[in-house]
Amino acid sequence: MGLMFKQLHSLFVGDAGPIELRRVHDEDTLAAIRAGMDEYAVLVFHDQPFTDDEHLAFAQRLDGALHTKLGSAAIQKNRFGNEALGDISNLGSDGEILKSDDRRRAYTLGNRLWHTDASFQDPPGRYSMLHAKVIPPVGADTEYADMRAAYDALPAETKALIQGLRVHHSIAYSRQTLGFDFSKDEEEALKGAVYPLVRTIPRSGRRALYVASHASRIIDWPVPEGRLLLRDLIEHATQRQFVYRHTWRVGDLVIWDNRCTMHRATPFEDTKHPRELRRVTTLDMGGPEMAPHTPQPSERPGKAGSLL
Ligand code: OGA
Ligand code: MN
Repeated sequence: MGLMFKQLHSLFVGDAGPIELRRVHDEDTLAAIRAGMDEYAVLVFHDQPFTDDEHLAFAQRLDGALHTKLGSAAIQKNRFGNEALGDISNLGSDGEILKSDDRRRAYTLGNRLWHTDASFQDPPGRYSMLHAKVIPPVGADTEYADMRAAYDALPAETKALIQGLRVHHSIAYSRQTLGFDFSKDEEEALKGAVYPLVRTIPRSGRRALYVASHASRIIDWPVPEGRLLLRDLIEHATQRQFVYRHTWRVGDLVIWDNRCTMHRATPFEDTKHPRELRRVTTLDMGGPEMAPHTPQPSERPGKAGSLL
């Protein structure tokens, strides 16, 4: 099929084409897309006329089992009746634009924080595949940060400090930072998960920072010190040289690797214009790098302030 990748950013992101993914069933092409993911971490495919079912089926062909616990289930029943089909829109169950004081809108605004999908779940998300149906006239781009390049650029001292650390991720925490509170029952269903701060991505062998706005604390560290280090790492990783900004066209499918990128939505007039995308995310079943690890005393802090 002659699949080619054109790099869109100096560090990552490939524009892939020409290809119509709903027709891709052969193992060679699927393997070429996976290899593209290993290299670029984010792939952009324009002009994909997916139905929801074709989108779901393609995601499974490419990467296996789908995530069905995407967080929002605690807030509102999925309007498509399928928890694997994430409703990335500013529309309510009646299809109307959400009002500014709507609870689901407040919840969705959390996507404007830098994050990686389902890092607060076990298992977390591996590939997310976001398909654009309706795009507003201005704004509403999505930004991506390359967490492999961000890791590579850390001073050796910081790499040594963070190696082996583990982080608790919680959506209750990240939403609270925006003033959104879950009920006790909702919180009960969203206890969070613990993952290594540095991950080695299978196949490419590259290391990546695994942090997100959901990252609430570093295990075995005092909470404030842990939060300060997490904040510094996120600031470091989202400097402009590590960030690509995607301007959506209807029909775009963007696939990103949640193990080694962060992303965030950018503002638009969301109480005026509809914006509608669908997201399917696969399960990250992990590997040896996800195994629990006890930090050695030599890896304990220190002050992190001057290490980035
Ligand atoms: C997502 C997400 C950002 C956006 O779909 O996981 O964070 O721009 N989307 O809608
Ligand atoms: Mn997301």
